Amino acid sequence: MLSLRINFVKTVADVKRLSQIWKKFNINKLRIYSCKNKDKMIVDLRSDTVTKPTPGMLDAMWSAKVGDDVYGEDETINELEAKAAAMFGMEAAIFCPSGTMTNQIAIKCFTQPLDELIADQTAHVYRYEGGGIAFNSAVSTRLLNGKRGIITAEMIEPEINAENIHFPHTSLVVLENTVNKGGGNCYHLEQIKPTAELCAKRSIKLHLDGARIFNALTFTKDQAADYGKYFDGISVCLSKGLGAPIGSVFLADKQTIKYARRLRKVLGGGMRQAGFLAAAGIYALDNQVKRLQEDHDHAKLLEETLNNCNWVTGVLTVETNINIFDTVKEASYYLQKLAEKGIKASANDVRRIRFVTHLDVHPDQIQHTIDVLKSLNE
Ligand SMILES: Cc1ncc(COP(=O)(O)O)c(C=O)c1O
Repeated sequence: MLSLRINFVKTVADVKRLSQIWKKFNINKLRIYSCKNKDKMIVDLRSDTVTKPTPGMLDAMWSAKVGDDVYGEDETINELEAKAAAMFGMEAAIFCPSGTMTNQIAIKCFTQPLDELIADQTAHVYRYEGGGIAFNSAVSTRLLNGKRGIITAEMIEPEINAENIHFPHTSLVVLENTVNKGGGNCYHLEQIKPTAELCAKRSIKLHLDGARIFNALTFTKDQAADYGKYFDGISVCLSKGLGAPIGSVFLADKQTIKYARRLRKVLGGGMRQAGFLAAAGIYALDNQVKRLQEDHDHAKLLEETLNNCNWVTGVLTVETNINIFDTVKEASYYLQKLAEKGIKASANDVRRIRFVTHLDVHPDQIQHTIDVLKSLNE
């Protein structure tokens, strides 16, 4: 992939102009990023959600064929849904504005009020979706203490409630791949298989929060199409490592997706000519998956440096695009030091920092980050 550093790219209009040039010269997969000199360099490692659409993606969005999706008439959305479902070996899909919405719709589809779901205690569905499990589905949550967020069939089985009117009915297990709070670590499909077998045996649904499933697939080399064999539902985000400005898809069987359409409407997520957004999703699936290894390589380089910093007390082993590390002083102290050098990151705990690499972080910016990390040695 060709990358250019162009100082005057600041607005969407700039990107649009460059996109026209890109189109004229038919340079395939041009990636443009803006940075001036090193002192003014901004490296945004807070999340992979901060990416901006590339010229190629904007081009795909402008030329999308659209219609009213609430009537099922947006052909670009229909294409994205069919494409995503087929990729994961699922029957059908629904395009939603966010991963929170696809997860919450999945939970509602797979449970009844008064049921219970099982998830790891770090799960996004529990920690970062505003209490939506209780609010939207009137379901309680049984939390497990997984290893970096990874839960196994052996851990799940004893937590399944017996049929007894005192206990909520266990109807759903939710896994997250990659595990955000675990530091982007992955389940291999082989690890998921026993959980899927247990769930099938006990008539429990299995949902995957696959916000970063393509990062997991890049690391594990598992096949997306095999996921459909194990999960009843899968949520896939297009707006994280894949770089789309918005959007997630929920994948399941036809009947579940039919009900999910009703739920999305109830939640106010029925969109009209949103094919412009779906076009970004299609572009992301076609073009941005294969470059994820670059983000993983960047996270590995940061990990190597962090392991040699005397102000860092522990580093979680990197598998994908997330670095989580512990610090001597409070995280806020280092975040301030990093911010002074243009590096944005987030605290994951009082003495814990998270970096996330993504398509808008270029090798020069990784080198700058490495230099700054080393300069903080005491
Ligand atoms: C693991 C995981 N699941 C779900 C989501 C929710 O996605 P969204 O921000 O699109 O609601 C996120 C967001 O960062 C996430 O990290």
